[in-house]
Amino acid sequence: MNHDLIERKTGLMVALIILVISLGGLVEILPLFSSESTTTPVAGLKPLPALELEGRDIYIREGCHVCHTQMVRPLRTETERYGHYSVAGESVYEHPFLWGSKRTGPDLARVGGRYSDDWQRAHLYNPRAVVPESTMPAFPWLFERTLDGEETAAKMKALATVGVPYTDADMAGAQKAVAGHSEADALVAYLQQLGTLLSRR
Ligand code: HEC
Repeated sequence: MNHDLIERKTGLMVALIILVISLGGLVEILPLFSSESTTTPVAGLKPLPALELEGRDIYIREGCHVCHTQMVRPLRTETERYGHYSVAGESVYEHPFLWGSKRTGPDLARVGGRYSDDWQRAHLYNPRAVVPESTMPAFPWLFERTLDGEETAAKMKALATVGVPYTDADMAGAQKAVAGHSEADALVAYLQQLGTLLSRR
């Protein structure tokens, strides 16, 4: 085609640019839907147990993901601080994923096991009690509210429809595993398993 023509006709040039970028995008994005490295769960990955699943919903409800990412980038400065960079296989059961993009606080992708349950509870109740300079809000109500687990099995069923391999036994035992626990118990259980399948250091 005549290059002169494309350079003179801005509309044509815009249309062609859009076409080229779209094709390039498709070539880059489409293979990710079937590529093994993005769709195969990492070794040992299991759907979240009932209490942890409720904890994840509380994490979303309270907006923890607004201040915290769950995505260790493959950069030396990140891996030195947080541990192994995040891989796609860790997120295949995440709906919606919580990678985030804004870090007011530290990344939490590998926070599981970094602190004791007691530390996590004290920190959620009043962050300043354990980190005096902290700007994180306190979440005292999580300790007052008790879960009944009535909807946990339904949540598992919904996740199963998008490919999370929950079994009938998981759903049958869900309410019993959750009922009577505080919201703080559920959230701490969720935090303590985050990123523990790959090494922290
Ligand atoms: C307004 C922003 C903000 C929100 C919302 C927030 N945090 Fe934080 N978080 C921080 C900051 C800042 C720190 C670093 C200071 C500290 O440790 O308290 C932090 C630290 C943490 C740490 C310690 C991480 C580490 O590696 O030391 C954990 C765990 C944590 N937050 C969990 C949560 C959870 C769970 C929620 C939701 C219930 C939450 N945060 C909501 C700002 C926030």
